[in-house]
Amino acid sequence: MLKLVAAFCLLSLFGLSNANIQANKLYELLKTKQSTNKPAHDTWSVQEDAIHEYSPVYVGAQEGLAELDKILQLPGQPADMNGFDQYSGYVTVNPTAGRALFYYFVESPTDSSTKPLVLWLNGGPGCSSMIGAMSELGPFRINSDGKTLFRNNYAWSNVANILFLESPAGVGFSYSNTTSDYDNAGDKNTADDAYIFIVNWLERFPQYKTRNFYITGESYAGHYVPQLAYTILLNNKNTNQTVINIKGIAIGNAWMDDETTLKGMFDYWWTHAILSDATHDAIIKYCNFANLSSSDKCVDATYKAWDEIGHTDTYNIYAPICLNPDYRNSTGTGSINVFDPCWQDILASYLNDSSVQKAFHAKPTSWDVCSDVLTRWDDSADTVLPIINGDTDGRVTVTSSRYAINTLNLPIETAWRPWYLNKEVGGYLEAYKGLLLITVRGAGHMVPSYQPQRALAVFSSFLGGTLPPPS
Ligand SMILES: *[C@@H]1O[C@H](CO)[C@@H](O)[C@H](O)[C@H]1NC(C)=O
Ligand SMILES: *[C@@H]1O[C@H](CO)[C@@H](O)[C@H](O)[C@H]1NC(C)=O
Ligand SMILES: *[C@@H]1O[C@H](CO)[C@@H](O)[C@H](O)[C@H]1NC(C)=O
Ligand SMILES: *[C@@H]1O[C@H](CO)[C@@H](O)[C@H](O)[C@H]1NC(C)=O
Ligand SMILES: *[C@@H]1O[C@H](CO)[C@@H](O)[C@H](O)[C@H]1NC(C)=O
Repeated sequence: MLKLVAAFCLLSLFGLSNANIQANKLYELLKTKQSTNKPAHDTWSVQEDAIHEYSPVYVGAQEGLAELDKILQLPGQPADMNGFDQYSGYVTVNPTAGRALFYYFVESPTDSSTKPLVLWLNGGPGCSSMIGAMSELGPFRINSDGKTLFRNNYAWSNVANILFLESPAGVGFSYSNTTSDYDNAGDKNTADDAYIFIVNWLERFPQYKTRNFYITGESYAGHYVPQLAYTILLNNKNTNQTVINIKGIAIGNAWMDDETTLKGMFDYWWTHAILSDATHDAIIKYCNFANLSSSDKCVDATYKAWDEIGHTDTYNIYAPICLNPDYRNSTGTGSINVFDPCWQDILASYLNDSSVQKAFHAKPTSWDVCSDVLTRWDDSADTVLPIINGDTDGRVTVTSSRYAINTLNLPIETAWRPWYLNKEVGGYLEAYKGLLLITVRGAGHMVPSYQPQRALAVFSSFLGGTLPPPS
């Protein structure tokens, strides 16, 4: 009985909105964290350093493969290409299992040889980084017809070479010939495979081997990004393989720490006037977010909270919702300044098309935004905060992030202040030793989708190692 109640509690903590699939996957994970079959919650402690053994990873022959991966033309691509190269294909990470990860790589149209290499990861767990590529920060967005593309003037590839990785195997076009791999997905395997991917990818594109490298992502990538950075730093020290020139990490709307993120969510709702005082008070009083098992009174209060906020897109509380997924009837071209709330249907329609898959050098796949072949998530750290430290640079947002960062007790180097773009406040920032908290005003969960120009400004200053201007 207690377990059932607890499971419902999480159900109500996360709601049933289908507004954002990445967050739905997160909810599924948190539900399993409640169950008897819960994932291991290994902490990634710094002590691992000491016992880490020298173990070179698989490196396959990569000569000539980059040229084969070059994309000639994507279906529906606009004519004004503005001359940049794009590549996509598979990198085998385990030849015995037959496991390969799919990537899409976009070079900067100008001076790509002097610009950094940036890896982008979407979350879930189990959602595709093609979300980022085609609906957030990539060079193209898909028109509402689900068939044609338009240029994103605020693409992050304007300032960097961007590598989108579908991870782990079982997500998007990434696959394993050993289907039992899909039952063993988890934080650890995801980081290990992503590391092997990068080492091999750098053999395929050796001109990037010594390039400054950054890892970015959002949502559950709040786990992936620091865990991969940690794996890289460990291997840089302990193996004689390619030393990856990692310079920093940036994570948006990151799920980093169960406790502060859950508490932060309800506090955010209350402070944004979508939740009553009474219900917020009850949640504070009865819910213990340090322990996902909660009392009946907590369950009641969280249910009430979901009722009170109504049918909105919880991941962008002021955005319209997708009322007409029958996008195929839509005509007209998309605009980078108006994000289509039916983006998931549009994205799945485009990437599930066989001519699109062929152009991307993907094997025929029933492509979906988030994976339904990953049966369970084996290990998920309750918190990744212990491995975020002053050696890496990170940026995260909102109430939960503020609570999470506060637990790190870092000294403040630049006090809270607004930053500006085009004479308007673009958001706010606070710089700590080794870490920057920065918000993007008016952005939902997928920051570059809702605020592309501000997101690019933040990303550019991140790469430049500067703070966006105070006026
Ligand atoms: C998976 O199996 C197919 C069919 O045998 C093969 O063509 C492919 O190369 C295998 N993938 C990997 C990564 O080994
Ligand atoms: C690097 O590792 C490989 C694989 O274990 C080994 O064969 C080689 O001798 C090592 N090289 C050095 C310089 O340690
Ligand atoms: C979490 O709550 C459950 C149920 O109240 C309790 O049995 C368990 O000991 C708690 N765990 C921790 C770590 O506090
Ligand atoms: C949209 O197109 C579909 C398929 O052609 C059609 O069945 C449907 O009635 C159309 N919907 C609208 C609102 O026109
Ligand atoms: C993708 O297309 C295949 C066949 O064309 C179809 O069976 C499958 O349901 C589609 N998947 C999605 C997620 O739309």
